[in-house]
Amino acid sequence: MVKVKIPATSANLGSGFDALGLSLTLYNYLEVEESDRLDISSTDAVEIPKNEQNLVYKTVKYLFDVCGRPLHGLRIVQTNNIPLARGLGSSSACIVGGLVAANQLMGCPLNEDELLGFAATLEGHPDNAAPALLGGLVTAVIEDGKVYHVKQTVKDDLMFAAFIPGFELKTSKARKVIPLEVSHRDAVFNLSRAALMSVSLYSGDYQNLRAACEDRLHQQYRLPLIRGAQQIFDMSYRFGAYAAFISGAGPTVMAIVDTALFDFEGKANAWLRENEMTGWSLRMLSIDNRGVAVKLD
Ligand code: HSE
Repeated sequence: MVKVKIPATSANLGSGFDALGLSLTLYNYLEVEESDRLDISSTDAVEIPKNEQNLVYKTVKYLFDVCGRPLHGLRIVQTNNIPLARGLGSSSACIVGGLVAANQLMGCPLNEDELLGFAATLEGHPDNAAPALLGGLVTAVIEDGKVYHVKQTVKDDLMFAAFIPGFELKTSKARKVIPLEVSHRDAVFNLSRAALMSVSLYSGDYQNLRAACEDRLHQQYRLPLIRGAQQIFDMSYRFGAYAAFISGAGPTVMAIVDTALFDFEGKANAWLRENEMTGWSLRMLSIDNRGVAVKLD
């Protein structure tokens, strides 16, 4: 049996639309073994498909097919700590977990770069898949199924405050509201900030992060879909966050906070209560510099 631990991820980091993402200390777990039938269960109350529509199953089957190996059935046990459709990479976790499990079950015919190419292709963009697989902060570009990427480890002096609402927002819906074309000025606005974000997180120049996470490609169009998000941005900056941005396609809002700002969590929780932000909860997370982990039993 293969056991896989897959981290949550936060994509875009504001300006790095479809290009930047980082890995966080919140994990899904999978147990996968070959069987003569399909048997899918979960260790928690999260509703997941138990049939051939299950994303982990579909991904394992996909990789077996790619490698020309027969697959008769699977036993899958899922532990789903990453909330679904909240901008924290739950579908990437299924895809990366499924690919890594399938590769192990077949005796590892594929290397990490090949798995990353499949993960990013299945997801459609690399900014969740790459950090879920590799950990840390990943800058990635996908071209013809190949992912050109750099992984950087991030120091442990930052906390990632994930403000997670009670409602879901499907990535497909959040992508439909983005304009198909942007001006040259807006393109420059974003590319300069995305570059600044990646190097500043790596170098520790955190005073740059607020400017670096500003963007003109997606957040302004998505904010109206996320009631309460603008107030959370404002509150996060008021309480001293370095940066605040929509995590992935949303609806989670992520604030980057110095670990020395020990009262941020208490103040933010009190603010959520006092402002009747019903359904929103706060998870204080850290960077995961390791990425997916596998154990054979
Ligand atoms: N870059 C993607 C988006 C992340 O913003 O749509 C969501 O999966």
